[in-house]
Amino acid sequence: MRKKFIAGNWKMYKTTAEALRFAEAFKALRADPGADGRDVAICAPFTQLAALKGALAGTGVLLGAQNAHFSDEGAYTGEISPAMLAEIGVDCVIVGHSERREYFGETDADTNRKLHKLLERGMVPILCVGESLEIRERGGQGQAVERQLAEGLKGLSPAQAGGMVIAYEPIWAIGTGRTATPEQAGEMCGFIRRAVAALCGVDAAEGVRVLYGGSVKPGNAAEIMGMPDIDGALVGGASLVPEDFARIVGF
Ligand code: PGA
Repeated sequence: MRKKFIAGNWKMYKTTAEALRFAEAFKALRADPGADGRDVAICAPFTQLAALKGALAGTGVLLGAQNAHFSDEGAYTGEISPAMLAEIGVDCVIVGHSERREYFGETDADTNRKLHKLLERGMVPILCVGESLEIRERGGQGQAVERQLAEGLKGLSPAQAGGMVIAYEPIWAIGTGRTATPEQAGEMCGFIRRAVAALCGVDAAEGVRVLYGGSVKPGNAAEIMGMPDIDGALVGGASLVPEDFARIVGF
């Protein structure tokens, strides 16, 4: 039985002072930390990570980053390495979000190198895949996602692939208020699991947690996460408000 995984993706929102206020409010809402049998993570901007690590200590809430470089160190001005994140105690890292692919030219080959390095460093990668509206309209979503997975997961052992998280995020549903229907989301998450089985074996497919992301809100989260192949959610906008995120994670 896979444990549900619900991650907030704060994107480029919140100063450190605002992040700490969120942490206090969120902690006050969390009735019984750790007793709910699900993993909850907050993926914050880099500059908030150290402060949040302290603020979330003892709550069981995991700390996530939104990107990492694929080297441990080097002459890469402006970048942050997996080694630096590991030192802070970061548990998980979003890789290949569509905003990084679109605005920063991140390729499938980059996501693959990042996954290898993060896994080597003991962090859980959250690999994002998903198709554009144009691709969805011509029915190419399966092919597009399959290619992202084939490139992204290249060279990973079955145990590595089985321990990671994959988020299906159709680009047309991100920040648009236009959520995929539970059926559309469930169908693609099932497709992803079958693709992982073909690429990395059935044990990997059984272990990997497949999330849906794209306009998840308190009002639709339970239905989406109740679909058989959906193991949780990656939540953008609604993770910025403590009460909304608390309702989504279910406490
Ligand atoms: P959204 O973002 O929930 O605001 O649609 C999801 C994401 O980009 O991870």
